[in-house]
Amino acid sequence: MKIDGKQYRSVWLSDDKKSIHIFNQERLPYSLEILTLSTMAEAADAIVTMKTRGAPLIGVVGAYGLAFAISEDTSDRHIEDSYKVLVETRPTAINLKWALQRLKQAVLNVPEISRKELAFKVCADIADEDVELCKNIGIHGLELIKQIAAAKPEGETVNIMTHCNAGWLATVDWGTALAPIYMAYNEGIDVHVWVDETRPRNQGTLTAFELGKHGVKHTLIADNAGGHLMQHGEVDMVIVGTDRVTANGDVCNKIGTYLKALAAKENRVPFYVALPSPTIDPEVADGVKEIPIEQRAGQEQSHVQGITELGKRGIVNTAPEGTRCANYAFDVTPAELVTGLITERGFCDANRQSIKKMFPELLSS
Ligand code: MRU
Repeated sequence: MKIDGKQYRSVWLSDDKKSIHIFNQERLPYSLEILTLSTMAEAADAIVTMKTRGAPLIGVVGAYGLAFAISEDTSDRHIEDSYKVLVETRPTAINLKWALQRLKQAVLNVPEISRKELAFKVCADIADEDVELCKNIGIHGLELIKQIAAAKPEGETVNIMTHCNAGWLATVDWGTALAPIYMAYNEGIDVHVWVDETRPRNQGTLTAFELGKHGVKHTLIADNAGGHLMQHGEVDMVIVGTDRVTANGDVCNKIGTYLKALAAKENRVPFYVALPSPTIDPEVADGVKEIPIEQRAGQEQSHVQGITELGKRGIVNTAPEGTRCANYAFDVTPAELVTGLITERGFCDANRQSIKKMFPELLSS
């Protein structure tokens, strides 16, 4: 992704190869601040505080966190202890556990002397693979957008709704839900994106930032506007990302996704979910019952942050002092509300049979 003419990934290795750089997503979209992480504690803190976020990206940053731990102490015990710290930083997105397990298994299989070098190589592989996975999601999703464009009267804009941020800021590059949109724009298709604000953490402003940098037309809307727009024929399709897809095709994503899926079903708007295969959790069948839903601090709900007229970052309380707040970060959309899954290998239906056919190595029965 390019920002002001410069090519970036969302995480990259420093020149000395001992630390990584990330964008401080707590400061975006107001300022582009680059952070350096060089210890496991720094990586864990960046994930917990959402300086870095998005399912695939926290997988990569978490893996580098484990690599930093391994570079200090290569023993089995230290690796296991560090794994536990990192895997608990955020509970819902399965990509974090997937990446940490992949790295842990790889290093525990080799003598201690080789572990440090291998750890950094595995992290780089996971990051590079994520770029390829997202690119392929984009290529397949583009076909869908083309079909929708072809079915519309010539010259009409394709209106796509998205929730949260599932763009390059949530992955290493391209994004999941936004990859097909970027590719459609690059091919000259007239696309416009309805961007849900996504309270309370306002990931929609990150989506608006990304789309704006790429030149894609978009409109930021309140989360509650989705149903109204669908009712009035203003949405041709919905594409969202996901933090975990179960073996049966239930989709866990940012809080509010479920309501968009219900509105889409009621209004016959196709509801697609874009995901790389590390987001599939073969061990979970029923998403509503089994996926742990992260609950974050109530202050994220009661307070809003932004830039004051004087250009300073400010945080204000919008609720009566002492109001009890609940801050559920994710919800689960049952498979029957999902029109289809867009994966790096193509489309499949949101059900066990179809997922198994697409990814036989993940589901054995
Ligand atoms: O809490 P966040 O900002 O990490 O949640 C991110 C999302 O829910 C994304 O939509 C999801 O990770 C899709 S990933 C490209």
